[in-house]
Amino acid sequence: MASSPVDAARAILETNWTGGHTVPATGLYPHQWSWDSAFIAIGLRRLDPVRARTELGSLFAAQWSDGRLPQIVYDPSRDDDYAPGDAFWRSRELPEAGPLPSSGLIQPPNHAWAAWLVHEADPVGSEASGFLASAYSLLVRWHDYLAERRRSRRDRRLVVIRHPWEAGTDNSPLWDAALARIPASSTSIPRPDLDHAGLGERPGAREYAKYYWLAERYRAGGCRDGGDRPFALACPQFNALLAVSELALARMAEELGRDGSEHRRRGREIAEALDETLWHEELGIFTARDEVDDELVPRRTVNGLIPLLLPGISHAERLTDTLAGPAFLGSCRFVPSSDASAPEFDPALYWRGPAWFNTNWMLLRALWGAGCEDLAERLVPLFTEVAAEVGFPEYVDPRDGTPRGTRSFSWTAALAVDVIMERAAR
Ligand code: SER
Repeated sequence: MASSPVDAARAILETNWTGGHTVPATGLYPHQWSWDSAFIAIGLRRLDPVRARTELGSLFAAQWSDGRLPQIVYDPSRDDDYAPGDAFWRSRELPEAGPLPSSGLIQPPNHAWAAWLVHEADPVGSEASGFLASAYSLLVRWHDYLAERRRSRRDRRLVVIRHPWEAGTDNSPLWDAALARIPASSTSIPRPDLDHAGLGERPGAREYAKYYWLAERYRAGGCRDGGDRPFALACPQFNALLAVSELALARMAEELGRDGSEHRRRGREIAEALDETLWHEELGIFTARDEVDDELVPRRTVNGLIPLLLPGISHAERLTDTLAGPAFLGSCRFVPSSDASAPEFDPALYWRGPAWFNTNWMLLRALWGAGCEDLAERLVPLFTEVAAEVGFPEYVDPRDGTPRGTRSFSWTAALAVDVIMERAAR
């Protein structure tokens, strides 16, 4: 008998488990990725809350003394299998780096949100293991790093990313204009990733030469955050996740018998700043603001829909119309990463069109939370049927679910488990 989707997903999470963390994919992504681990922990909490806590704990163990949670924690035994690796960042030479080899960059702050969900899944075990208290103080330091060292110079309530990798949406059209100003690195760039995904499904050589230039420059400055910032953008997804995570920190503080009001205030402040600084009235969506030219980037992308997660966000009705309209679900079966009606749309190419499971999962939760059941129902089959049918891929063609990118991808498996179990409980 064929195994159930949950059993198939569980088998992937088992294969990708290293004993301390889950790799996103055994070939393409052989280390521990920051926002992946948080999404993976959210699924693992349904199957094995102890493992979910271990997953987050192993990422937290890599925290830098300045509070940052690194984008990637390297497994030195796999250093030849991914680039840039530990040999590029040499984090152990930096005074503020954490105890484990890691990238100097960061990723979107979904961790406090994940930690709260992991706690709620097993409050007794979480309490007994001291998980909540230790996660809380560490996550406060992570958010302090963002607020102090990554503060937007345009709107101090927001934070900026300094590299497209930090957005988690590497080649989104949001970064095109900013990258056009960036020179290409002259380094010869290894591309082991191309052994594991189609050439037309990964960022190209031109993008990589700019990604490397930015990473080399940040590394040359010791990964410190002062000084000039050739690439600095406030991303609506990154900031919305920070606000969601502030609200999670408030719940954590209150559970620990402390005052959560400062976290709630900060969450509200970020939501107000999204409205005042990142809303694009003409396009009907939130978008990134480039700090170099102080312009809103005129592109509709899934990043700009993620603020729907925030209860009471302004423009929710208009944003839901945009989600249902021709750029997204009006022309696609699942939510594409980028405007399906725009000339740059490419249904196979990483963040320039494919539907990703994490962003569809966030929007599904937002729609459930807002009582938009009809729209939510349209996304459910991605998790309950399509994911397992096509081998839990990294992403799919948003029009018909054709698998793209690597397969047996951990957050796809984890979030499928989450939706299937949530549905069963509703
Ligand atoms: N997304 C990047 C990659 O594709 C790393 O974070 O390698």
